[in-house]
Amino acid sequence: MTAAAITYRRALPADAGRAFQVYRAALNGYLAPAGQDLVPDENDRDAGFLHTLRHDGERCWVAERQGDMVAWSSAIVRDDWWFLSSLFVLPEAQGAGVGAELLERVRTGAPAHAVRATITDTLQPVSNTLYARRGMLPREALLGFAGPPRSGAGRAGGRPRLGTLEPEPLTAAALPDLRALDLAVLGFERTVDHQFSLSEGGRRGWLFRRAGRAVAYALCHLTGGIGPVASLRAADLETVLRFVLAELAARGLERVKAGVPAPCAGAQRVFWEAGLVYDATPGLLLASRPFGRLDRYLPASYGMF
Ligand SMILES: CC(C)(COP(=O)(O)OP(=O)(O)OC[C@H]1O[C@@H](n2cnc3c(N)ncnc32)[C@H](O)[C@@H]1OP(=O)(O)O)[C@@H](O)C(=O)NCCC(=O)NCCS
Repeated sequence: MTAAAITYRRALPADAGRAFQVYRAALNGYLAPAGQDLVPDENDRDAGFLHTLRHDGERCWVAERQGDMVAWSSAIVRDDWWFLSSLFVLPEAQGAGVGAELLERVRTGAPAHAVRATITDTLQPVSNTLYARRGMLPREALLGFAGPPRSGAGRAGGRPRLGTLEPEPLTAAALPDLRALDLAVLGFERTVDHQFSLSEGGRRGWLFRRAGRAVAYALCHLTGGIGPVASLRAADLETVLRFVLAELAARGLERVKAGVPAPCAGAQRVFWEAGLVYDATPGLLLASRPFGRLDRYLPASYGMF
């Protein structure tokens, strides 16, 4: 396909369903030959697509050929932090400059000094080369853990010890606390993303206080996805994760998943103790420069840091 046949426009809410199909075909295009698990035809991404469109519409772009979407991309800006959430090109449209053009278009709106970051699959040399040649270099591995949660993981018989940490259910009233924790741990705030997570059904979260002061938070999906999780102290993150695993086990979840930045040794320790295993090839966190305290943070997913 020649690049000349392609037109570009901003994404619209009505694009959500087709965007999922492009996402799935693009990923399966390299996962299948590598013998990896394929993305199933179960679209659970529309709400996230619409959330990004609502807050970062100028960074959501679609590429079309004769009116049919062949690729799309989205990025978010939170303070001085730009994050590429999506870039997907149908296999038959790849290698013609469409990905590079979309990447250029979604760069808009970030301050010149902003950190630029994304998460990729180590299996994908094309995307990793595309981003690295534009200054986003691999900074950390992201280790995918999965498996059945064990109740009271790491503690013989019963609930994990919380020490002086006091958990409370996460509600919108805690948004100022989440903002302060994100600023301390990541260096930027993303209240709109927490509002979205808390308003979406199927999630649970906890704020953890010590002597009344908010020191950590954890969000998880009731389908088993753990993250984002942030803690002012690396040692508390382990306690928080043991608590989350016990909560999910008590709810009867058969499988949990989490992506752990390599510097987060405490989280790895907790998941090994709990009997989880690596479930896929590692991801890579790419960034134009280092940011945040990744020894005390677990991202939500590849697309929503
Ligand atoms: C990664 C992806 C978005 C790139 O889009 P694309 O339209 O195929 O890429 P382009 O034609 O714009 O080429 C981009 C760069 O990759 C290089 N490239 C393209 N195809 C390549 C290939 N098969 N092998 C090596 N390099 C390749 C190009 O030379 C170009 O380099 P440059 O612009 O730095 O000079 C696309 O292949 C894709 O959707 N892959 C599957 C899903 C995926 O991995 N998405 C990324 C998620 S992080």
